[in-house]
Formats: sequence, C-alpha cells, structure tokens
Amino acid sequence: MQIKVYFESMEIIHVSAECYPVAKAGGLGDVVGALPKYQNEAGHVAKVVMPMYRTKFLLNNEFDVVHKGYTNLGSWWFNFTIIKETTNKLGFDLYLVDIYGLLDREKIYGYDDDPERFLGFQVAVVDWIASWEHRPDVIHVHDYHAGLIPFMLKYCHKYQFLQNIPTVLTIHNAQYQGWMGWDKSHLLPAWDGWKWGMLEWEGTINPLASGIKCAWKVTTVSWSYLDELRVAANGLEALFEYERGKCVGILNGIDNAVWDPETDSYIDDHYSVETFAEGKLRNKQILCDRFDLDIDKPLLIFIGRLVGEKGADLLPQAIGDSFYHIGRTMNFLILGSGFPEVEAELNSMKGLSRNDYNVFIGYNENLSHLMYAGADFILMPSRVEPCGLNQMYAMRYGTIPMVRNTGGLRDTVIDYGDEGGYGIRFNYAAVGDITQAIWRAVNLYYDDEKREEVIRQMMQLDFSWETSVKQYIDLYQSL
Ligand code: ADP
Ligand code: GLC
Repeated sequence: MQIKVYFESMEIIHVSAECYPVAKAGGLGDVVGALPKYQNEAGHVAKVVMPMYRTKFLLNNEFDVVHKGYTNLGSWWFNFTIIKETTNKLGFDLYLVDIYGLLDREKIYGYDDDPERFLGFQVAVVDWIASWEHRPDVIHVHDYHAGLIPFMLKYCHKYQFLQNIPTVLTIHNAQYQGWMGWDKSHLLPAWDGWKWGMLEWEGTINPLASGIKCAWKVTTVSWSYLDELRVAANGLEALFEYERGKCVGILNGIDNAVWDPETDSYIDDHYSVETFAEGKLRNKQILCDRFDLDIDKPLLIFIGRLVGEKGADLLPQAIGDSFYHIGRTMNFLILGSGFPEVEAELNSMKGLSRNDYNVFIGYNENLSHLMYAGADFILMPSRVEPCGLNQMYAMRYGTIPMVRNTGGLRDTVIDYGDEGGYGIRFNYAAVGDITQAIWRAVNLYYDDEKREEVIRQMMQLDFSWETSVKQYIDLYQSL
C-alpha cells in the first residue's frame, strides 16, 4: 500500500502584547518577533496581532487600514481599527489594533487601566477574527494579556460560532497573571454565567488561569520550567498539576539573523568563532573606555529587569562581597531598570568604584548588544527563569554564562566542570553561591587554554528556532 503524505500549510495567528522590533520590554517581544518568521520560513502562514502603542516603529513605518470595527467593554462602546504593516519586512504579516485613548500610549505596561487596555485589545482581536470569511487553523495566545481569548471563543455568546478554532496558550512567565476583581466581569462580552469557574482562581478573575483552563494546549518556554510550575507557580501549582495532560515544554530559540556577532547591526566590530579573541577585545575596549573600567580584568555583566525574579536585589551584596573576599580582580557592568530601591543601591555603589564597577539604569537595546559582544561573563542569578534568552545570546557572542540552576537556564547551560560543559552553574539564588561562582569565573578567566576552549564550544552551539518551530507545528497539527 502506498501512503501519500501531504504538506499542509497552516494559518497561525499569534496574539501578544509585545513583538520585537515593534515593542519589546523583554524576552516575550524577542520570541514573538522571531517564532512567526521561522514558521513562515517553514512554509506556514504565521501572523502577529498586537496593540498599537505609540512606538518609534509605528511612526517610522507605513500601514494600511484592513478593518474598522465597533464593540464594547461593558457600557463603553468604542471604535477600533486594525492596521497592517505594508512591506512584510518583519518576515510575517503584522497587524496592530488601534483603540483610541486606550492602547495608543508610549509604554507597553504600567498604567492603572492595564486590565481594561488588554481586555479591550482581546475583545477587538476576537471581534475582528469573527468578521473573517474563513477561520485560521490556530490562534496562539501569549501570556495573560491574551489569556482570556480561549474563554471568549468558548463561552461568550457572540463568538461561540468560533469555538472550533484550536487555541494554544504559551506561558512565558507565570508570575504575572493579570488578576482582576469580579467587578470587571461585566466588561467581557456577554458570557455563559454557568462558566464563571473558567475565569476564576482563588476568588478573583485570573486571566492566566483562565487561559490554562480553556486553551486546547498549553506550552511553557522550557521543559524544566514546566516541572517547576507544579511546585512553584505563584499560586497556580494545583492547576498545573491538574492540567498537566495538556501542557508541554518547548524551549525557545534565538533569532540567529538578529543575534549574530558576524553581522550584528548594533555593533561596529564584528567577529566569528575564528576571530573572537581580537573581536571581543575590541568591543571590550569600547565598553571599558565608556564606563571607566579596567580592560585587563575580566568583565562580568548583568542585563535585565532589576526585579526579584532575576535575583537583581542580590547583586549589590554579591559584588561587595566579591571585592572584599576575592579582591579587586574583576569588573562589573550592569544594565537594567526595575525596583527603585535596587536601582538606587546599584547607582550609589558607583562611588566605590576603582575603575571596576559601573551601572546604566534604563533600557538600551544598542548597549545590550555591545555588552554581549564585549563581556567575558554574564551573571544570571534568577530565582525564576522560564527560559531566559540572555544566556543564549551571550553564548553566541562568546560570553560565558554564570547561571542559577533553574528553568530554562538549567536546560541550556552545562557547567564546564561536567562532561561536555561550557558555563558556570550554581544552585541557590543566594549571595554565597553567587560569590563562589564569581570566584570560579575569575579563575577560569586566567586559564587561557580552558577559557578559549569553552568559548569556542559555546559559540558553535545551535539555539536556532528550527527545532522548536517543528515542535509547535506538530502540536498545532495534533489539534
Ligand atoms: P525577561 O523576558 O524575563 O526579561 P529574557 O532573558 O527572556 O528575560 O529576555 C530579556 C530580553 O530583554 C533580552 O533580549 C535582553 O537583552 C533584553 N533586555 C533586558 N533588559 C534590558 C535593558 N535594560 N536594556 C536592553 N535590553 C534589555
Ligand atoms: C519571559 C521569561 C523569560 C523568557 C521570556 C521569553 O519574560 O521571564 O525567562 O525567556 O519570557 O519566553
């Protein structure tokens, strides 16, 4: 018997609050800016729909209006417009949802009415899809900002004719769940009151929990994170345990076209695995000149949100202890923003620098690329790390990761002391463990032969999207 296999191209709609380079606050943006591109390259039709914020990308690009709609959040009726970027320059169709007065602001998050903003966004997206003459093959929603869409498709009367569209929820970070009081329940399009349990977790409306309950499949961005969620999920542990049958871990990839030390448009001095020694040194020189650091000492960096999840509050003491116990034999450079107390403490430490410490408070894409290129080590003492992209970027740029043994860090970094290893791993997000890792880093730095072997090995690791794209497509097809 002959079996014929047909390749079926799928139409995938990604719904997200972030997408690089349109609007990015962290790794969610990177992933949604890359995954659809690689899905398209694999022969599918992946599209992204996100809120229309007032970003540079909006002002510097051309858009066509593709839909105008009129809908409501409770008693507030509003017009919304869907616009589409005209050139397809991102490698996928990009659609932005414009809701005047609600979404068209400079920042992505951080407003008092964020619950209404993301609700309005989701209602507009579903309303728009409901107006199509055809149905997409899958709606793939990301994090809690899009987490109520699976509920809406199943239980809002107006949209129930869409209930056969498969939905996938990817959890990039379960710490943020979008909690809302029941007083906001009337903002959802009229829904089947018997199904209130599908919105609820521990007495409030919980959009992430609702997404986990209602989506056809749930993915997390690494395997280890999925295991950890059953014991530590900011209150959702029992739900992950109960729903484990529909959950799967798919490790993020990195966009090798954007993150490539040979071509990176954010840096001037390019290098490859053959030329990393000189190439990294030239970039390090630029950093050391700009931040008053000593080029002869190893450069340890931290890039990221200065929040508890990332262990940022541990940095001041870990750095102080390292200077005290190990000696002033290394430089530290920190880029990030977050908790004001942590920002202030890191800033105040500048006064103690002997050309070996500096910090840049803020978000700076350019500087981050230069730091991946010029640093020797990157420190990630995360308490929670669903995947983590920094360590993968760093490795591609020949910067050795020093990571806590958790989530995606555990899945991507093997300690150089273990068989086939290339990074530094430690067990606890605690000052003592971090200081010991710093001591190991300094020793590794001065062991030229071992360090170069580690760098060469790391730079050739494959973290590209191809494998994960295939896993996502298999998952959609199983639906
Ligand atoms: P998370 O999404 O939890 O913040 P990830 O490791 O997945 O962590 O991704 C962080 C992304 O955001 C990386 O691309 C990193 O370079 C970038 N990033 C974080 N903070 C800053 C900053 N202050 N300036 C520039 N880029 C940053
Ligand atoms: C989240 C996580 C981070 C992950 C990113 C992309 O922001 O905190 O670990 O890499 O999403 O999935």
